[in-house]
Amino acid sequence: MYCSVSNYPINEGFLFYHEDKLLDEKELYHHLVPLTFRSKHYESGGLFIYDKNNNKIDIEDIVEEGDVIFYDGSLKHGVETIKGNSEFNIGRIQTFSIPTNFQYPGDNFRTLVDLNLSNKKLIKYLFYRIKKLL
Ligand SMILES: [Fe+2]
Repeated sequence: MYCSVSNYPINEGFLFYHEDKLLDEKELYHHLVPLTFRSKHYESGGLFIYDKNNNKIDIEDIVEEGDVIFYDGSLKHGVETIKGNSEFNIGRIQTFSIPTNFQYPGDNFRTLVDLNLSNKKLIKYLFYRIKKLL
C-alpha cells in the first residue's frame, strides 16, 4: 500500500466511475482523507458511490472536516467534475491509500531490473537467492 495525493482542479477535475478489484482479494476497502470540502473550497461535484442497490450516494454531502472515508472499492464510484470559481476556490484535494502488491526482486525479474544494481551487486544477490533455494 502506498499513499497518494489527488488534486481535482476547479472546472476540470473528475474521475469517471469505475470499480476496483485486486486479483487475490475477495474484498477491497478503500480509505481516503479529504483535505478540501464542497461549499468551502469548491461549489459542486465530488465523490459519489453507488450502493449495492445502485443508489447513487453523494459522499460530499455527508462528509465533514476530520472525517476519514472508508468504502468498498468494488462498488461503482467516481468523482463528478469539481466546479467553482477558479479565482476563489482551490478545488478538491484528498489523500488516498492505493492498495498494491509489491514483489521481492527474487520473485519478479522486472523489480530486480528496476533496482538498477551494479553487476557486482546483481551477481551477489543472485548467488544469495540461489543459496536460499538449495
Ligand atoms: Fe477507484
